[in-house]
This record gives sequence, C-alpha cells and structure tokens, in this order.
Amino acid sequence: MTLKTVIVTGGAGFIGSCVVRQWLAETDWRIVVLDKLTYAGNVESLAPVRDNPRFSLEIIDICDAPAVAGLIARVQPDAIVHLAAESHVDRSITGPGAFIQTNVVGTYTLLEAARAYWRELPGDRQAAFRFHHVSTDEVYGSLGDEGAFSETTAYAPNSPYSASKAGSDQLVRAWHHTYGLPVVTTNCSNNYGPYHFPEKLIPLMILNAVAGKPLPVYGDGLNVRDWLFVEDHARAIRTVLERGRVGETYCVGGRAERTNLDVVHTLCDLLDELHPSSGPHRRLITYVKDRPGHDRRYAIDCTKLETELGWRQQESFETGLRKTVQWYLDNPEWVRGVTSGDYRRWIETQYSTRSA
Ligand code: NAD
Ligand code: DAU
Repeated sequence: MTLKTVIVTGGAGFIGSCVVRQWLAETDWRIVVLDKLTYAGNVESLAPVRDNPRFSLEIIDICDAPAVAGLIARVQPDAIVHLAAESHVDRSITGPGAFIQTNVVGTYTLLEAARAYWRELPGDRQAAFRFHHVSTDEVYGSLGDEGAFSETTAYAPNSPYSASKAGSDQLVRAWHHTYGLPVVTTNCSNNYGPYHFPEKLIPLMILNAVAGKPLPVYGDGLNVRDWLFVEDHARAIRTVLERGRVGETYCVGGRAERTNLDVVHTLCDLLDELHPSSGPHRRLITYVKDRPGHDRRYAIDCTKLETELGWRQQESFETGLRKTVQWYLDNPEWVRGVTSGDYRRWIETQYSTRSA
C-alpha cells in the first residue's frame, strides 16, 4: 500500500510519539498529529521531529466532532492511526469519566468523521484508506498460570480503563461490519521504553530509585505482565497498517512475561551498575496496598502477526530495559520537565497566545 499522509491521534503520548519519530525517519510520509495534549501529551517528546517539514501538530480533542472533521477535510489522509486515549489503569479507578468520554465517545466521534470522509473518496483512495485502531491486551481480562491471549480470546475487561478500550474495539468492529469502513485493530501487551510518563511502573521505579525514594510494589508483586519495547510496537503497528487484512485484529506481544517483582529487581540491579551513587536500590522496595481488581497475569500469543505478516520483535527485554534505564539517565531535561510540570507550560503559552 502506498501512503502519503497519515493522521496519528495521541501522537504526543508515549507510544504515539515513538510512532511519529520512527515513521518520519523510516518513510517519506507526511504525519499530522491530532492530540488534545492532556497531562499525558508532551510536545517535548516530539522535539526530535519539530523541524521536519513532513510533521505537524494539531491540538484537538477527538470528542470535538467539527474540529476533527475540519482537520480530516483539510489534511485528506490516506490513513488514520488512532492512539489517543486515557491510558492509566489507576486513574481509571479513581476517575472513570474521562475514560468513557475519550476512549468510547472520542473513538465514536473519530469513526464517524472518518466514515463521512471515507465514503466521499474516489474508488481507488477509498479502497486504500485505513482506520487503524490501537488497543490493549487488557480487553481480554486476566489469565491463570497457563495459556496466553490471542485474537480469538473472549473479551472480559476488568477495569474501567479496559472496559472503555473494549468498548472502543467493538465500535471499530461495528463500523467495519455495518458501514464497510476499512479498519484494522492491534491489541498489544505492556510497552516500555524512552519518553514513558512516570506514572507507569517502569519509569516510576527508575526515577524513584535514582531519587532514593520508595519503590511501591502493589500487593505481593507477583502479578505478571508481558513486556514489549515501544519501538517494536511502533514497527508492528506499521506492519499491520501496511499489510494487515481489513477487518482483522492482530495481537502484539513481547514473549517476555515477568512478575512485577522481577521487573523491579532487574531495574534495581541495572541502576546499581549504571547509577551506583543512589544504590544499592533493592533496599527501596516497599510493598503497598494492592490495586483494586488488579489483573493477575497477561500474556500474548502473537503467532498470527509473526506468521501472517512476518513481524518479529528486535529487542529482548534485557537489552530494551538497559536502553530504557540509560535513556532516563541521559535525558535529565525531559525528566525534569515532566516531574516539575514545566512540560505543561508550552500548552499554556499556546493557548494564551491564541486567545491574545
Ligand atoms: P499516553 O497516555 O502516553 O498518551 C495518550 C495520548 O493521547 C496523549 O498524547 C494525550 O494527550 C492524548 N489524548 C488523550 N485524550 C485525548 C483526546 N480526548 N483527544 C485527543 N488526544 C487525546 O498513552 P500510551 O501509553 O502512549 O498509549 C497509546 C495507545 O496505546 C492507547 O490507546 C492505549 O490504550 C494503547 N496501548 C498502550 C499500551 C501501553 O503499554 N502503554 C499497550 C497497549 C495499548
Ligand atoms: O497491558 C497493556 C496495558 O499496560 C496498557 O493498555 C495500559 O495503557 C498501560 O498503562 C499498561 O497497564 P498496566 O496497568 O499493566 O501498567 P502499569 O505500569 O500501571 O502497571 C504495571 C504493573 O505494575 C501492574 O501489575 C501494576 C503494577 N504497579 C504499577 C505501579 C504504577 C506497581 O506494582 N506499582 C506501581 O507503582
């Protein structure tokens, strides 16, 4: 498939910004980021591509139907890659409303705008158009000690976050089935890597450890996640966007199951080596109250993506985690901006400039 222009929603977030940086480097596509810049959106994560003439950023809420439709009409995309979402499970427990609004209503709004645009396209562009929905393995619920999620696993979301993502997956499916919108969906396991907002396990542990603060492990620390380096996820999304079968879903995973305690121990050991002045780090591990409804184990069987489309992850958990720790140590400015809240200044300046 030949793409020229791609809209990436949520392109200022952790995975979205990786997609944008990677695809601008590896393709000749024009990439337009559509992002509301919530607390999780950070223009500093797009600094490496700021001056690229094929990159632009539009500050828009996916729930704002006229603004979304206006952007799509102006940009005339060949594809929309949809990552914008509220993404943090803990926040969904204390405040589910934003998750329903953005993940469900926002996805609906985007689908309707995409459909209105797509149905007016000439035949060849209509056939080539793609709506790629980026989703999570959490829609499948929680596993016991054995087995792995695959594309045929029944949905059983357990948190407000995963329920809202499951809802968005079903809307995408219905817009294909009912209206023929050419969609593909990917359901991925836990990502980690550079530019990850430090509310999530891995960046939180790295930054707390360096600062000599407690490392809060929920419950017994034996919950299992399947970890994938974010650059590998970005490559998987592009593989499915370009070559995935319309109407299909593809599971993406790292074949790297680890208990949370394993992850934290590995991080502590890496930091003992790479940042010994704040160590030894394992002494900082602190067991805290468990997350309500905490899913016990996730694991992904990504055979379909591997055999049908030839995707393979390039980074092992060990090499990816080492790169990630090193990145946080090498990028104190990005970290300082996020931890001090200064990264929000940019958006405040933009809005005050606009209204001035
Ligand atoms: P993130 O929280 O880092 O980024 C989300 C981005 O969406 C931010 O830039 C934010 O400003 C933007 N956004 C939020 N609400 C918006 C709205 N109403 N309108 C426009 N933009 C809005 O999230 P992430 O970790 O990069 O995840 C991206 C996507 O991938 C999500 O859909 C998530 O469900 C999915 N996913 C994440 C993981 C993971 O491990 N992080 C794994 C599988 C799937
Ligand atoms: O599986 C994919 C999902 O992975 C994505 O859809 C979500 O957007 C993403 O946030 C992630 O969800 P998790 O809940 O698995 O990620 P989180 O980093 O919040 O937590 C990972 C595990 O670590 C989980 O079992 C909870 C635990 N944890 C988390 C934090 C923040 C702790 O023990 N201590 C912590 O402080």
